[in-house]
Amino acid sequence: HNYVVIMAGGVGSRFWPYSRTTKPKQFLDILNTGRTLIQMTYDRFKSKVPEENIYVVTHQDYGDLVKDQLPKLTSDQILLEPLRRNTAPCIAYASYKISKKDPDAIITIAPSDHLIVNEGEFHTFWEKALNAAEDQQKLITLGLKPNKPETGFGYIQFLDEKGSLKKVKTFTEKPERALAEKFIESGDFLWNSGIFIWGVQAIINAIEECLPEMSELFEEALPKLSTPDEAAVISTVYSQCTNISIDFGVMESAASVYVVPSDFTWSDLGSWNALHEHSEKDSNDNVVQANALVYDTKNTLIKGPKEKLIIVQGLQNYMVTECDNVLLICRRDNEQKFRDFVADVKKSK
Ligand code: GDD
Ligand code: MG
Repeated sequence: HNYVVIMAGGVGSRFWPYSRTTKPKQFLDILNTGRTLIQMTYDRFKSKVPEENIYVVTHQDYGDLVKDQLPKLTSDQILLEPLRRNTAPCIAYASYKISKKDPDAIITIAPSDHLIVNEGEFHTFWEKALNAAEDQQKLITLGLKPNKPETGFGYIQFLDEKGSLKKVKTFTEKPERALAEKFIESGDFLWNSGIFIWGVQAIINAIEECLPEMSELFEEALPKLSTPDEAAVISTVYSQCTNISIDFGVMESAASVYVVPSDFTWSDLGSWNALHEHSEKDSNDNVVQANALVYDTKNTLIKGPKEKLIIVQGLQNYMVTECDNVLLICRRDNEQKFRDFVADVKKSK
């Protein structure tokens, strides 16, 4: 009964210029391992879940990328979205479709932009959640110990009960900085990993409870899913569907949310700084993924194509990266700036 749904429709703008709308970060070998992030995600699950039960949901523009990178998937396992509507509709679509095939399915929702270093560690906590999800009642997330007041994550406060599964008291998605700082100070909170485990009935009931209009749209579409009319009916559903994440739409307000406090090395590879943090560094804390000569330089990330010789001298806290027709040299301190770069580049075109 085990299924995995890989969400791979995000745009990854903070990884520009490597991540482009035409080929976002999940389809890139960001870490120089020979496997792209979506391939690494697939690999993480394929030993434990039958390969025919692994699904990918993505924007229709990325269908071919998914097929190329995960050739074992059949077209029925690749769910194409006609519009970007964030993760709630993405999860609803996959859940309704899987419910038709297997009403007792236990589904793991996996983002495709994560780095998990030790698979064994991850599997320990994941299996606890899988067992607890069997009753088709609970929405379970894996929670991780936070180490900074990051505003891009969800924060979870839980009831201190015995056992490895805890009832969630509050779930706060992407808090303001001041609130995130309070959460960290209190020591009471975990980060939401964004990896969810639940029975298909549990998530369908929760969508009905928290997003009744969305649930109605999918209920109506259900008879047409996995028929030749699927694309047409999904196009209608998406054109009427609200744009909302599962975290804001369901996890913050659903009644039966649980967390498995977990401890595995994890990173949301959201930005260049996260890549710097998790890549191999030289003795001056530089990450060099390029054909480069580096002098008197510290804490700098250099990434470029093999064909290009890059020579860097006297930099601290910079990133130097060349990709396609873009050369980017900027300080590493303000990663939010990347959204502005991308917006300005679009305007200047
Ligand atoms: N199919 C599809 N369609 N996938 C999408 C869409 C969409 O419209 N939007 C985003 N995704 C995919 C992304 O590619 C990514 O793999 C995953 O869904 C999560 O989306 P993000 O946009 O990266 O979410 P986030 O990082 O801001 O926040 C989530 O993850 C955090 C941990 O990494 C939340 O769950 C937070 O609570 C959590 O802390
Ligand atoms: Mg993310």
